[in-house]
Amino acid sequence: MRLLALSGSLRARSSNGAVLRSALDFFDGPSGTADIGSLPHFNPDLDGEDATPPAPVAALRTAVAASDALLVVSPEYAHGVPGVLKNALDWLVSSGECVHKPVAVITASPFPTGGGHANTQLREVLRMMTGEVVTAACREIPAIGPKIDPATERVTDEATLKDLHAAVTALAAAVGATT
Ligand SMILES: Cc1cc2nc3c(=O)[nH]c(=O)nc-3n(C[C@H](O)[C@H](O)[C@H](O)COP(=O)(O)O)c2cc1C
Repeated sequence: MRLLALSGSLRARSSNGAVLRSALDFFDGPSGTADIGSLPHFNPDLDGEDATPPAPVAALRTAVAASDALLVVSPEYAHGVPGVLKNALDWLVSSGECVHKPVAVITASPFPTGGGHANTQLREVLRMMTGEVVTAACREIPAIGPKIDPATERVTDEATLKDLHAAVTALAAAVGATT
């Protein structure tokens, strides 16, 4: 099983990046993280039947196609999905790489809500794209700040680590069930 992770934060010291890395630490197989920060703004004119998609778009589509499951980890901005992440998903709507792909959505926030709005919205978008949202692998992580060690840029909170392990296990199990 090959896992591709997408982060909704471009921040160098991103707490969601730390969550992403900690989740991947629990994953046995090959994994990678997609570069979505260099994608152009989605424009259907660049994506027609006769158009050649921009190189970063082609690279993203190839990486998603080569993966057996997706792990989406994201903050919430203004009760919504970060634009950079929605932009990446928009590039994947018509091309079909997400169809029936098992996907986990994890949101982390410094606030008690755990990014619940963005989490709900991401699940809705991915379901619309006919991705296989694995509910048992989705998480909303509240009060993330003190749960991270800035030196290692990993989660150190034991309960959160246990939960991330369970989420990754659920995602891997879903891949086994759909392949
Ligand atoms: C413009 C802006 C809007 C934000 N809106 C929300 C929000 O609606 N809900 C929330 O939980 N956190 C919100 N936050 C706080 C982010 O969750 C916080 O900055 C978080 O650390 C960003 O994730 P990162 O550490 O992975 O970059 C917002 C932050 C910014 C800069």
